[in-house]
Amino acid sequence: MQEAGILGLGCYLPLKKITNADLEKTVETSDEWITTRTGIKERRIADKDVAASDLGAEAAKIAIKDAALNSEDIDLIITATITPDMAFPATACIIQDKIGAKNAAAFDINAACSGFVFAIVTAQQFVNMGLYSNVLVIGTEKLSSIVDWKDRYTCVLFGDGAGACVVGRSKDRKILSSFMGADGSGGHLLSVPAGGSRLPATESTVKDRLHFLKMEGNEVFKIAVRIMVDAANKAIKKAGLGPDDISLFIPHQANIRILMAVAKRLGVPKEKIFMNIEKYGNMSAASTAVALAEASSENRIKKGDNVVLVAFGGGLTYGAVVIKW
Ligand code: UT7
Repeated sequence: MQEAGILGLGCYLPLKKITNADLEKTVETSDEWITTRTGIKERRIADKDVAASDLGAEAAKIAIKDAALNSEDIDLIITATITPDMAFPATACIIQDKIGAKNAAAFDINAACSGFVFAIVTAQQFVNMGLYSNVLVIGTEKLSSIVDWKDRYTCVLFGDGAGACVVGRSKDRKILSSFMGADGSGGHLLSVPAGGSRLPATESTVKDRLHFLKMEGNEVFKIAVRIMVDAANKAIKKAGLGPDDISLFIPHQANIRILMAVAKRLGVPKEKIFMNIEKYGNMSAASTAVALAEASSENRIKKGDNVVLVAFGGGLTYGAVVIKW
């Protein structure tokens, strides 16, 4: 068995920002409500002609460079996204072509906000078994393309962005343990109802706005806290550690109140919870990807630190990874 770790990291955010004040002009909301109920101040929005693969390719190039590799050294690409460029081909294949990773196999993972965590765990298995050496893992989303800009319950929450890492043989930034789970009975709480084989696109699905993201926020909130704490604790225990041994938790950025409740239940100070939700909102699979890259570039992690990535999202899915820096 090989030892898998993080060889390089990168992220890419579109430049355009939509602030809470901007949203006050389009839906009945206020900066005060959004800030106090979610912690979000602004979110990034990609241009109309930009797709998830464009954002993902930019993040990927930075991560490959950070790993001191070339695109041709990548032998597998796993892309986590719920906003693929199209139903198929996979966004990972489109990125493979864009970055010239001609020696790589490529496929997508759909685990919503847990996608980047699931993709890292998947990459780790391939590296551990010796099947692939340099696996490019990408979390990329253009959520602005599935957000209903007329729905104040959801349009204030989401943003666009991408993060990436290269997983390969390494004794540094080593993946110590992980946990993944799912509860399909909660799938209806967070979904895009139409556009698949159940409800293909028709005039009426468009008229009924069924191609936009729907969420039962209150229900999701309650489950999110319980399940993120459970996933983090399970992964930490598998690593033979306790919550006090963790220097930094990097959770999926859905709501600042969820993050504070998670810190309380884990019994860790809020300073140990990495947060960038204020700047970007919820970027689904890209949230933990961008947060991991930023935590590293902002020197929030020192050599020898134990770090936990933990996420929860549509599916429902949940998972955590412990990494020793
Ligand atoms: O990434 C996947 C995981 N996603 C999540 O974890 C999201 C989890 N859920 C949440 O973050 C929260 O449930 C929301 C932020 C979505 C909603 O916050 P909440 O505190 O649960 O609000 P609520 O739905 O209970 O609504 C409270 C009030 C309602 O008004 P009334 O009925 O009390 O008069 C809403 O109509 O807030 C109102 N409201 C708003 N007001 C101003 C809902 N959205 C808005 C808004 N601006 N944007």
